[in-house]
This record gives sequence, C-alpha cells and structure tokens, in this order.
Amino acid sequence: MRKAIIAGNWKMNNTASQGVALVNAIAPLVTDANCDVVVCVPAINIPAISEAIKGTNIKLGAENVHFAEKGAYTGEISAAMLLEYGVEYVIIGHSERRQYFGETDETVNKRTLTALANGITPIGCIGESLEERETGKTEDVLATQIHEGLKGIEDITKIVIAYEPVWAIGTGKTATAEQANETIAFIRTTVGEMFCPKCAAQLRIQYGGSMNAGNCKELMAMEEIDGGLIGGASLKAPDFAAIVNFDK
Ligand code: 13P
Repeated sequence: MRKAIIAGNWKMNNTASQGVALVNAIAPLVTDANCDVVVCVPAINIPAISEAIKGTNIKLGAENVHFAEKGAYTGEISAAMLLEYGVEYVIIGHSERRQYFGETDETVNKRTLTALANGITPIGCIGESLEERETGKTEDVLATQIHEGLKGIEDITKIVIAYEPVWAIGTGKTATAEQANETIAFIRTTVGEMFCPKCAAQLRIQYGGSMNAGNCKELMAMEEIDGGLIGGASLKAPDFAAIVNFDK
C-alpha cells in the first residue's frame, strides 16, 4: 500500500554537465520502475537537471531549503526558487548538515514546515551516531528528532522520513536488514503516537546508509522499509538503476 521511493542524494558531487550526463544514463534504465525515482542534486545543478529529466519518470529533489520566504540570508535557497524549476522533493536535516553546518531539530522543523507549505515533499533525515547506538540511546535520540523535527505538521503522510544511521553513511557498513527494519518500526510507532497510527501506517520511511546494488533487495524486502536514500551508489547509473529496479 506504500509506494516505494528510491532517491539519490548526490551531496557535493557532479558539476551540472556531469549531472546531466548521469541522468541521461539513468533515464533509459529506469523507465519500468514501480517506485518513485528521485535525484536530489546540488542547487546550482537544478536548472540543468530539470531540463534533462523532462519526459522521463525521474523526479527532481534539492538537498536543502531555507525556511524564510525570502530576504537577507546570503547563500541560501528559498522554496520559490526551487519551485520555479519543478523541484518536488527536498532533503532536510541530513546528518552531514547537522554535523558540519549547525543544523538542529529546530531548524529542521522550520525548513520542513516551509517545504510543506510550498507543496514540496520533505525527505526528513534522522539517525543515531555509532556511540549513541552502542550506548543504547538509539530510541531516545530518534524520538527527540521526531518530536522536535516534526512538530506542527498537519498531514504527516505528506512527508518522507529517511532513517540514516550516521555510522552507516559512506562507511560501507550497512545496518543489517533486521536492524533497519526494527528501527524503522520504532520510528513508525513513535510517529503514530505523536500523530495518528493510521497516518503512520501510510508514511513512507526510507533506509539510507551504504545501500547499494548488492544489498538493496534484502533491505527492500523488509516490511517496514519503503525505499532508500542513496549516496555513493547514486553516482553511477547502473548501480542506481539496479536499486531502483530492486523488485525485478
Ligand atoms: P551512502 O549511500 O554513500 O552511505 O550515503 C547515504 C546518505 O547519506 C544518503 O543521504
């Protein structure tokens, strides 16, 4: 009942022309996808990628959005700027933004509400560090990120959550399918308690962290996992396409 969503997060990779070459290579490989296919790209690539994906089933995502409508926020990008190029998704609160750029649950919440108000689907990222997992704090950390980051949302089914354990990102160390499934089940229950269980049952929750062509089938076979947010493997057309086609 929940449509899977596979999204690439290019992070700070690919110039605009390299990005166009990549989506041109991906497009013919994913035409029969049964899931939503999204590429989240650096802001400066958005105009070029927006053109390149016309007529394909690839959707466009950004890697961040500012919470203000406009104004004196040097270096930031507004929702209106994204909308002009047909951006439909935006990653919010990625652990790299939290770690290196001072993103907090409060700013995550503001950005999420702004994206929703503009009809852009937020892909809200949450996840624990290795130390937090090893000291048994995973559920507390996730519950706080959920309670603070998602407060005030009217229709929780309009967002996507990405569960990305920080220790699995870019490390080649994937959470086991059982670990990911169990943690995502906890996230769904927590969201259900905060909003409503019926809405939580409709909410799409992705797994992210070293997901690749080799492990995607096992991860995607888990009942709670509704998709993937893919870093490294989204930068190679055959790898990303193999993940998109996980059910074939
Ligand atoms: P990797 O797939 O490179 O581990 O990155 C995951 C990620 O951070 C996606 O947002």
